Amino acid sequence: MALKILTVFGTRPEAIKLFPLVHALGGDARFISRICVSGQHRAMLDQVLDIAGVVPDHDLDVMQPDQTLDGLTASLLTGLGRVMDEERPDRVVVQGDTATAMCGALAAYYRKIPVGHVEAGLRSGNIYHPWPEEVNRKVIGTIARQHFAPTATAAALRAENVDSAAIHVTGNTVIDALHWVTAEIARRPALAAGLAEVEARFAGKRIIGVTSHRRENFGEGMDHIAAAIRQLAARPDVAVIFPVHLNPNVRKVMMAALGGLDNVALIEPLDYPGFARLLDISTLMLTDSGGVQEEAPALGKPVLVMRSTTERPEGVAAGTARLVGTDAARIVAEATRLLDDPAAYAAMARAHNPFGDGNSAGRIVELLATG
Ligand code: UD1
Ligand code: UDP
Repeated sequence: MALKILTVFGTRPEAIKLFPLVHALGGDARFISRICVSGQHRAMLDQVLDIAGVVPDHDLDVMQPDQTLDGLTASLLTGLGRVMDEERPDRVVVQGDTATAMCGALAAYYRKIPVGHVEAGLRSGNIYHPWPEEVNRKVIGTIARQHFAPTATAAALRAENVDSAAIHVTGNTVIDALHWVTAEIARRPALAAGLAEVEARFAGKRIIGVTSHRRENFGEGMDHIAAAIRQLAARPDVAVIFPVHLNPNVRKVMMAALGGLDNVALIEPLDYPGFARLLDISTLMLTDSGGVQEEAPALGKPVLVMRSTTERPEGVAAGTARLVGTDAARIVAEATRLLDDPAAYAAMARAHNPFGDGNSAGRIVELLATG
């Protein structure tokens, strides 16, 4: 009998990292694949669903303007529980460490439904960096029956007494997603046209691609990041392209500090093909994002990580990523070194694939079928 899998997600990065699995489950007669989106993100989730052709069976539409962690968690837990009662799946699959993923795992646990955790085992060792994601993934790690770890480092779940037989190193599905979108752009170049206008505006300049959204950077951290970007953008030979996250705590700071600068384009969040194009044309990336730390090494793009810790040490070990924190002077110094010292740049700009070979979803499907 076919196994009923309920895949639960709600934010942009979960959608990007789960659409390869949704594609694979959908074409496999061993499974009945059902999809529940929480709508924790609205516009940024819908951008991914559209591109990937994913149509949810359930949409909780929970997003509120400037939502609080407790309000969000409460509506997610009750909403996801209701869907599970209706669907009665054999398995629930969640990804990563968002509120949606944590509540999906918890609601499944309350119904004794086994959970598969995609991107399992990441740890920074600090429950406030990233906040609240470090605790979210620990909760999911306690509940999950199958742990799909992207790398051998992440499989360190064993140190938390997770049974070795339940931990599977599968690679990260973000690489599957990146391969898929790259092939789609090759087939339909117009897909990545969202960046054309700003590319034309900055023709001849070296591009610094920026993203920033971490809750623990709100306040002082964001102010310092904005100050660093302002200094870097004062150089005539560079331009900054910054698709600004829709979180109002990011937007108000960045618009006030960087709006109207000649060499800075503050743009709306790009769809996934548009962002793949930004990675491609950027000389370097400045980010506090998790996903970008995985994509940039795969493409050989130096990435300066504006965080004090990372749960993704593989990019740093491979030499493509460097942790620079949120001190403005440090960010400017590290970026300037990469811009002005070709040897330092060449040392970082080498493609590595520590996060997978693009076949992670297929491995996870097989493990779901047998585990
Ligand atoms: C969330 C995740 C974080 C993940 C990030 C990816 C939690 C607690 N946080 O953080 O782990 O790294 O997504 O981007 O799960 N908003 C919109 N439209 C959108 C998306 C967001 O308007 O499409 C605004 C809303 O005002 C919303 C706010 O952003 O209330 C915050 O969204 P939320 O999901 O709570 O937090 P993120 O910072 O996006
Ligand atoms: N991304 C995107 N458009 C953008 C910025 C990012 O499609 O304008 C993609 C990016 O390629 C990566 C993911 O979104 O796969 C990262 O999401 P985010 O930084 O919001 O979350 P995190 O990875 O930090 O949880």
